[in-house]
Amino acid sequence: MTNPLIAKYNVAGPRYTSYPTVPFWNTDAFSLPDWQQRLTTAFAETNSRQGISLYIHLPYCESLCTFCACHKRITKNHGVETPYIDSVLAEWALYVGLLSRDGESERPRLAELHLGGGTPSFFSPAELRRLLTGIFALADPTDAPDYSWEGHPNNTTAGHLQTLYDFGFRRVSFGVQDYDPVVQKAIHRHQPVANVRRVTEQARTIGYTSVSHDLVFGLPHQRVESIQDTIAQTLAFRPERIAFYSYAHVPWLKGNGQRGFSDADLPTADAKRELYELGRAALEAGGYVEIGMDHFALPHDPLNEAMQTGTLHRNFMGYTTRSTGILLGLGASSIGDVGTAFMQNEKDISTYQAMVSAGELPIVKGHLHTFTDSRVQQLILDILCRLRANWSVYDWTEAEWNTLAEQLDGFRADGLLDYNDTGLRVRPAGRPFLRNIAMAFDRYLTDRQTSAKPLFSQTV
Ligand SMILES: C[S@@+](CC[C@H](N)C(=O)[O-])C[C@H]1O[C@@H](n2cnc3c(N)ncnc32)[C@H](O)[C@@H]1O
Ligand code: SF4
Repeated sequence: MTNPLIAKYNVAGPRYTSYPTVPFWNTDAFSLPDWQQRLTTAFAETNSRQGISLYIHLPYCESLCTFCACHKRITKNHGVETPYIDSVLAEWALYVGLLSRDGESERPRLAELHLGGGTPSFFSPAELRRLLTGIFALADPTDAPDYSWEGHPNNTTAGHLQTLYDFGFRRVSFGVQDYDPVVQKAIHRHQPVANVRRVTEQARTIGYTSVSHDLVFGLPHQRVESIQDTIAQTLAFRPERIAFYSYAHVPWLKGNGQRGFSDADLPTADAKRELYELGRAALEAGGYVEIGMDHFALPHDPLNEAMQTGTLHRNFMGYTTRSTGILLGLGASSIGDVGTAFMQNEKDISTYQAMVSAGELPIVKGHLHTFTDSRVQQLILDILCRLRANWSVYDWTEAEWNTLAEQLDGFRADGLLDYNDTGLRVRPAGRPFLRNIAMAFDRYLTDRQTSAKPLFSQTV
């Protein structure tokens, strides 16, 4: 029987790694000079105090997983490594040149550095060493940096782990998805547990303090038994963090290869919710704490400490333990955030490389925040990171408040939250519906109702 809450709240909605979300960026009002000016202002204000965050996108994978929604290029040709790293280093030099213009000689201080993909471990340790040597030739680490990377268990070697450790990386996440062979076949992801064991043990022996495993619920052919078994096997490794992602079914994204199975192979919304509930209960029984959406951590992990002390932050890299004023994104498709503006790089790798070679920042779209954007962004971050929001950050008009109150009344009647004149607090029953609650504050979503083009995955 259909759970009425699931029937009601299973709508298409954003995951809010940014507000406004990418489809609603006002690119017409964005200009490169504006972005550069906001970047240099934020850099002058925050670099010496907090340092900056850097995300580097390494887009290649050797084999296509047919569920994957990441920006990636599938190839077995490792000849692409060197020119790609050259482009990223050239892009980095463009940024550092921009930041040190007008006689400013302050070097960027890297508080956070994340290598994501695609598959960073597609690249050889020697190329990764060349990348990081080039990055740190123009920047310095902060005192307590947080550097992390994503490895594929099937091609990560002790050489990769050691090379990145030597540059200060202490966190690594490995894609697992699901151990059930039926699910693995459907998503074209052969993922032996032996490989996960090998890389997890190697990371710990080398000295990584946080290992994370990525699991996904809602995959084709996934059953209660698959989730139970996958979580039991994962718990045996005691990773410090476990990402438990809701499968985002976004088959309309160009070239993402999700057509490898049919919609009929996917669990229904009710069954998917059951998989999540089961997974959550097993993870909590195993001693993990749920962090915002999609994430679980052991109590001693800094992600849980950040949630307890209220410093948890969410950006394009997902949940982070702190908020720096600047997140720069390097590489094809990367996204950046300077607090008052977002940008995204060209997604096509050849075009990205041609732009960088021509000495241009390869930015193709962006958004300059309005005052209202910044206020709403704060409310949404408070909901997703702190499970509460305080109305004092926003000056509501009577009409706005009336519309919002109507939606909040609905959530309250369903037991998802409590609210009063000062703010709201999400109740435990509301945690699976954080995206829905955040959507009530999203000022851009009204157009979605009339949009013919699908933009977001389902919230359940
Ligand atoms: C860049 S991959 C991780 C590193 C490496 N490429 C790998 O697969 O092992 C990022 C993670 O995003 C998650 N992911 C990818 N596509 C997804 C989708 N459609 N829905 C939910 N999670 C997804 C997977 O858990 C995957 O491990
Ligand atoms: S899940 Fe990882 S390895 Fe598979 S296609 Fe996506 S990025 Fe590549």
